[in-house]
Amino acid sequence: MKILVIGGGGREHALVWRLARDGHAVIAAPGNPGIEALAPCHPVAVGDLDGLVALASAEAVDLVVVGPEAPLVAGLADRLRAAGVPTFGPSASGARLEGSKVFSKQLFARHGIPTAAFEVCATVAEADAAIARLGGDVVVKADGLAAGKGVVVCSDPDQARAAARDMLEAHRFGASGDRLVIERKLPGREVSILALTDGVRLEVLAPAEDHKTIFDGDRGPNTGGMGTVSPAWVSDDVVARIRREVLEPTVRGLAAEGIDYRGVLYAGLMVGDDGTPWCLEYNCRFGDPETQPVLARLQGDLGALLAGAAAGAMPEGTLAWDPRAAVCVVLAAAGYPASPRTGDPIDGLDDPALAGDDVVVFHAGTARRDGRLVTAGGRVLGVTALGDGVEAARRRAYDAVARIRFDGMQLRRDIGARRG
Ligand code: AMP
Ligand code: GLY
Repeated sequence: MKILVIGGGGREHALVWRLARDGHAVIAAPGNPGIEALAPCHPVAVGDLDGLVALASAEAVDLVVVGPEAPLVAGLADRLRAAGVPTFGPSASGARLEGSKVFSKQLFARHGIPTAAFEVCATVAEADAAIARLGGDVVVKADGLAAGKGVVVCSDPDQARAAARDMLEAHRFGASGDRLVIERKLPGREVSILALTDGVRLEVLAPAEDHKTIFDGDRGPNTGGMGTVSPAWVSDDVVARIRREVLEPTVRGLAAEGIDYRGVLYAGLMVGDDGTPWCLEYNCRFGDPETQPVLARLQGDLGALLAGAAAGAMPEGTLAWDPRAAVCVVLAAAGYPASPRTGDPIDGLDDPALAGDDVVVFHAGTARRDGRLVTAGGRVLGVTALGDGVEAARRRAYDAVARIRFDGMQLRRDIGARRG
């Protein structure tokens, strides 16, 4: 198949790598220097919906795989399907699962999907009343997209009231914060589960655990994700419960509401001590950096599965998993997450130790300037390694990391270190 992958981050590099390995002819837009080594890249930005539809048509691709959420929320999948291009990615109506926390929480409520008790607020008075009614131990969430920063896990009611004011009155996230979800804080441990769906069938991918804060020991501000491990700590029984209690009712609920959902359901979950899953949120796309270790372990033809989902007839039971563990360590730029510095030269990627089959360095924020590879974004590289067990994968990943250098490089040293 000829497949166009849209996006230019580590997730898209992993998708292109996997699809190319499975023998598909892959092109990308806009891609990045890592992707360029595997697939021709076309300089069309992810926000240029007209340009992307034109590219897919001109290249007569058999399938488009959309990486990031913003073009999905903006209706790219609808536009591509209207132009007759098979597309893996939900319609704009489905992408509201990620684009609007109010929409997704209300959908959970309508379909009995377990989630934290919540209220929707549009004024400071409503927010103050909701915080009081929910008992003060709450999480305040901007409704719309906010680059992963629109959620404040509050340690007391004063902080919650301040966060609500920051969003509703100071417009910290612009229109994304015109409405808020305020919900009860849940105890437990988090896990991300990605599933593929054609709107009816579900294929649950191997679980992965993200490490969201910038510093070791889960300290410091949240980032897009500083590293991931697959498999995650959850048991098969918990994954089965997540499928039954969260994912299946979501697919049925979307279908019952007439929403065309062919893409990834990426559930962010809190799991209680007794194994009870609670859905914190959905994303409508592959996770970044969850995709890197998950696709490193995936065995089977991913392209056939994505094309099947796009056509509404996803083959079932075709996936197997490498029994080894995979660890992805993100190397981030100086100043990330607040204000990443760009333009720092990157060295060491030609080290022979990075050439084996068990280590892949996925590019995220890199660019080529005057023939030299430089940093060009917050998360720069995702060093991904396989090993017999998490400890071996960790060792291999950090051994690879030691070969790579750029000024101001930040990384966590504890990716995968906490296994319960
Ligand atoms: P979200 O974007 O909704 O997944 O929230 C971002 C992060 O905030 C999650 O990954 C959790 O760490 C935390 N969080 C969100 N909602 C809750 C909740 N109800 N209870 C505890 N932590 C939460
Ligand atoms: N790793 C978090 C995300 O993809 O949203």
